[in-house]
Amino acid sequence: RAGMVTLDPGFANTAACQSKITYIDGEAGILRYRGYPIQELAAGSSFLEVAYLLIHGELPGPGELKEFTEQLRANAALPVEMRAMIDALPRDGHPMILLGAAVNTMAAFYADTTDPDDSDQVDRATMLLLAQLPTVAARIYRNSAGEQPLEPDHSLGYVEDFVRMTFGGDSGSRELDELYAKAMDLLLILHADHEQNCSTATVRVVGSSQASLYGSVSAGINALFGPLHGGANQAVLEMLEEIRGLGGDVDSFLAKVKDKESGTRLMGFGHRVYKNFDPRSKEIKELAAQILHRQEQPDELFELALRLEGRALADSYFTDRKLYPNVDFYSGVIYRAMGFPTSMFTVLFALGRLPGWIAHWREQRLDPAARIARPRQLYVGPAQRSYNG
Ligand code: SDX
Repeated sequence: RAGMVTLDPGFANTAACQSKITYIDGEAGILRYRGYPIQELAAGSSFLEVAYLLIHGELPGPGELKEFTEQLRANAALPVEMRAMIDALPRDGHPMILLGAAVNTMAAFYADTTDPDDSDQVDRATMLLLAQLPTVAARIYRNSAGEQPLEPDHSLGYVEDFVRMTFGGDSGSRELDELYAKAMDLLLILHADHEQNCSTATVRVVGSSQASLYGSVSAGINALFGPLHGGANQAVLEMLEEIRGLGGDVDSFLAKVKDKESGTRLMGFGHRVYKNFDPRSKEIKELAAQILHRQEQPDELFELALRLEGRALADSYFTDRKLYPNVDFYSGVIYRAMGFPTSMFTVLFALGRLPGWIAHWREQRLDPAARIARPRQLYVGPAQRSYNG
């Protein structure tokens, strides 16, 4: 666009822009984790199998997955001092703020991982973050809801126990618990990595200074919280509630979006890379239909989202700008149906993105040729002038 300049090719070849983890073709709507199409992983894999794939580069054998899972489950409980620290955080603080704070202090509770040559420390930090982030997230939610936090139940699966620690496992319907755990597992797979997005690039940039994995992931959590990034799933629900409050008038809302003066964006639409459908959005929309059509009454916000999508995709303002639903457009209606408050939606995004952040941090930290990230700039300020007039 006007004012854009072509950066010297060297800029594009810094280590931060090269990776073997995830491939995206934005024009064709293709997403692959370590070469495997997202649709195949969504249909047949599990979140922990995908986490192992992203971090180690290959799918685990049955024994490897069993050992990986058991290690995570055995380390899911938080240190007593960490529980007290989380309980002392402001309970009405946004869960993403508390999550970033808690993760950053893990570097204080556990040995820091500044030594790139100590692969044991790197592996231990990898394991502890994966094992404990769900426990931290559930504790933050229980505190915000005024409920007693629950300790991990090592006999349950990774995702199933997160749902139990969050809601107390008393939905009254075993079948519903299993459906929600299965749906959550799929949502976590779909959020697990997305190459050099804002928060992953943040993790890589912070990690390139040899900062700890905990500190780098904490920085990624803060980047993800932004409403233009992961915070969009919460903003979509707030947008749908606003339109419902206006009597469901999607046409007036879209007219406001098209009036640039209003500064109103169609949240959950558009993407820097996808100039076609986001393949994850299609999977999530199908999942939403499966879950929400089980309810006695049609879900008003889901029906509204479907109508909003339909009207936007029939409007050249959006299609000319290649604005299509992204990963955040339909995920919130599912989280809401499961009982999560909107303030927890981006925390759920972070739980999914964690293996991707870890994989990128390790790819860079364990590469002996990796260099500190130091983006170049194009100076457009005043030429030299004299202080002495
Ligand atoms: C995520 O990068 C990733 O991979 C991120 C992510 C991941 O998995 O990590 O996929 C997750 O962050 C998804 C995006 C979630 N954010 C939103 O849904 C917020 C709403 N979307 C927009 O803010 C926007 O589309 C972005 C931030 C996602 C992308 O911004 P860009 O690439 O800077 O888009 P742009 O400003 O270049 O847009 C081009 C045009 C502009 O209009 P013109 O100046 O050409 O007239 O499209 C317009 C924009 O004003 N536009 C929108 C719009 N997004 C872009 N107009 C209305 N509503 C929108 N949502």
